[in-house]
Amino acid sequence: MDPGALSAASPGAVVAPGDCADHRLGLGVGLRNVHFDHILRTRPAVDWFEAISENFMDSGGRPRTVLRRIAEQYPVVLHGVSLSIGSTDPLDMAYLRRLKRLADEIGARWVSDHLCWTGVLGRNSHDLLPLPLNEAVLAHVAARVRRVQEALERPLVLENPSTYLRFRDSTLDEPDFLRALCEATGCRLLLDVNNVYVSCFNAGIDPQEHLERYPFDRVVQLHLAGHQHCGTHIVDTHDQPVCDAVWSLFRTAWRRTGGVATLLEWDGDVPEFERVHAEVLRARRWIADEAPSSDAAPPETPGRTGVSTPLDFMVPAVMHDTRLCDA
Ligand SMILES: [Fe+2]
Repeated sequence: MDPGALSAASPGAVVAPGDCADHRLGLGVGLRNVHFDHILRTRPAVDWFEAISENFMDSGGRPRTVLRRIAEQYPVVLHGVSLSIGSTDPLDMAYLRRLKRLADEIGARWVSDHLCWTGVLGRNSHDLLPLPLNEAVLAHVAARVRRVQEALERPLVLENPSTYLRFRDSTLDEPDFLRALCEATGCRLLLDVNNVYVSCFNAGIDPQEHLERYPFDRVVQLHLAGHQHCGTHIVDTHDQPVCDAVWSLFRTAWRRTGGVATLLEWDGDVPEFERVHAEVLRARRWIADEAPSSDAAPPETPGRTGVSTPLDFMVPAVMHDTRLCDA
């Protein structure tokens, strides 16, 4: 469809594309507190790190000091889980001021969050809840993205979330919605290829065909992760190696984007740092188009539990008490 026909696609506070400078950062790893000491002690040969904004923006203690030291040695981007860009609650301007202060302090290459809502009436669900995708929601989200970008004084990068249902009120699919949102606001995209796979499996659509429809020229970052296959559905748990089907999607996305910054997320049962780093380095073989059979990861384990919101050291009870696979 023609994004220009959408009501939200008006000029306004459009941020010029290209402001996320130098987005070919290589292969990175999500920064997790259990790896702090290892990273500081050994200075591993990682291309870049992604830090969860909320784990550092309210901390003036050791986590912030560690993040500053790592940002002196590696490119760092910030990835948030609480912006709630789709909510009907007012934007939290104090949150945005703290986020901007952190981004400026560490020289974050860019700041990302998710196309979702996380709460309403002042309550935070600590989960990334899906939005119906239609013109009314597009106009609502576009207006909020413009205000966020003005507050942060940089483009916002938005990630496609994993979804488990479709809304009757949706009239646009996710690629069309995101393309129109980028046109309307100048925002950029973080394309999570695992989320594409999870959402497509749960919706019963072909992930490769669906992937081809995303606006790759707006993508500055890719996410990789593992998931839990529950037979009838997939839960996005970030506690497994990346499966071959997701690696195959990654290879397509890598080529179509020209090789943008790629990051592995591992948030549950986090193994030692070398294991996480080795997992993202498997990308090299997929990029080189070498036969992946000799590089096979352990098979997925069906029926386990977990959620993907990477706030495990802030809200361990939420991470460990949720039972999503038992339904
Ligand atoms: Fe992701």
